[in-house]
Amino acid sequence: MPSVLFVCLGNICRSPLAEAVFADLAKKRGLDIQVDSAGTAGYHVGEEPDERSVEVCRKHNVPINSTCRQLAKDDFTAFDYIIGMDSMNMRNIEKAKPKNATAKIALFGSFGDGKVIDDPYYGGPNGFEKVYQQCLRYSEGLLRDMGFGTDEGGKL
Ligand code: 4NP
Repeated sequence: MPSVLFVCLGNICRSPLAEAVFADLAKKRGLDIQVDSAGTAGYHVGEEPDERSVEVCRKHNVPINSTCRQLAKDDFTAFDYIIGMDSMNMRNIEKAKPKNATAKIALFGSFGDGKVIDDPYYGGPNGFEKVYQQCLRYSEGLLRDMGFGTDEGGKL
């Protein structure tokens, strides 16, 4: 089964939202993809997603259900894709990467307009809506990269 791990700093705001949006889109397309998320830092391990991420998911009828965990060495061989949200995430992912890593490592925005998903933690709820919209667009691009594009008529 193809697998994707979304990674941000805290694993309570952006990557749980990315995980939820991507998993929902894959499910709606009838695709069996293993989806998870993790943080490069361990500040919030064991916590539920930030309530503002939960709220934006509720607003868009997207189920969100994840428990914060930290990125681990095994993730680099267990997942096909490891997807970071911003430039700091990408640097931290590279630092954590073991020699035997097999995962494709990419910025989420590289599957769309190339922009980073800014950390919404210290901002208001509008920041979370923006993160949601970016996740939705980049998820389409990621599915296409995985060979599940709607316009390819291939594996769909
Ligand atoms: P996230 O946001 O990386 O999108 O989960 C953050 C959440 C918490 C912290 C930083 C970023 N923090 O420093 O506690």
